[in-house]
Amino acid sequence: MTGVVAAARSALAGRNLVLVGFMGTGKSTLGRVAARRLGRRFIDTDAEVEARAGLFIPEIFDRLGEEAFRALEAEVLVSVAERTGLVVATGGGALGRSENVAVLRANGVLVLLSARPDVLLRRVGGAEAAARRPLLAGPDPLARIRTLLTERQELYAHADLRLDTSDMGASEAVQALLALCARKAAGIRRG
Ligand code: S3P
Repeated sequence: MTGVVAAARSALAGRNLVLVGFMGTGKSTLGRVAARRLGRRFIDTDAEVEARAGLFIPEIFDRLGEEAFRALEAEVLVSVAERTGLVVATGGGALGRSENVAVLRANGVLVLLSARPDVLLRRVGGAEAAARRPLLAGPDPLARIRTLLTERQELYAHADLRLDTSDMGASEAVQALLALCARKAAGIRRG
């Protein structure tokens, strides 16, 4: 185990490492690698929601509506927060309900991943792929990303730590994430 991994593990001290932030910031990609390096289980809450619903996310939005998706997401977050020692990638709107924030903070360190809007659009696969994402559908996904980012500023402010991944490749970003946890996670105490 490298020094940074050992230091991150000890600073997290069993709490969940919860990645929050907009679509395309790398929550799932980095979360999976970070979990492997930390020797932890990885949970992607979008995948858990899909498993519960037996539907893919665009189908949940189409057939059941966004509120139904948010209700399922909230249930999944509660079940995730009942466990410890996980790395969790959340959906980009997971902090939209205040009860979700409380649940995740209870035994987790929340790290906000961010990136510039043009980078986010590229990472979600460009305008055409973005249009297939329920919340980015429409004629101008880049404008939609900017609007949603502005609307969500307050939600994302609930995170404990922040990492801008705009100019990093995946392995560099994982290293930066672990180093950030190693330096700062021990200092995060609730109440
Ligand atoms: C959403 C982000 C998506 C997914 C759903 C809603 C959002 O997850 O949860 O489409 O509200 O930003 P990713 O951030 O993993 O793409």
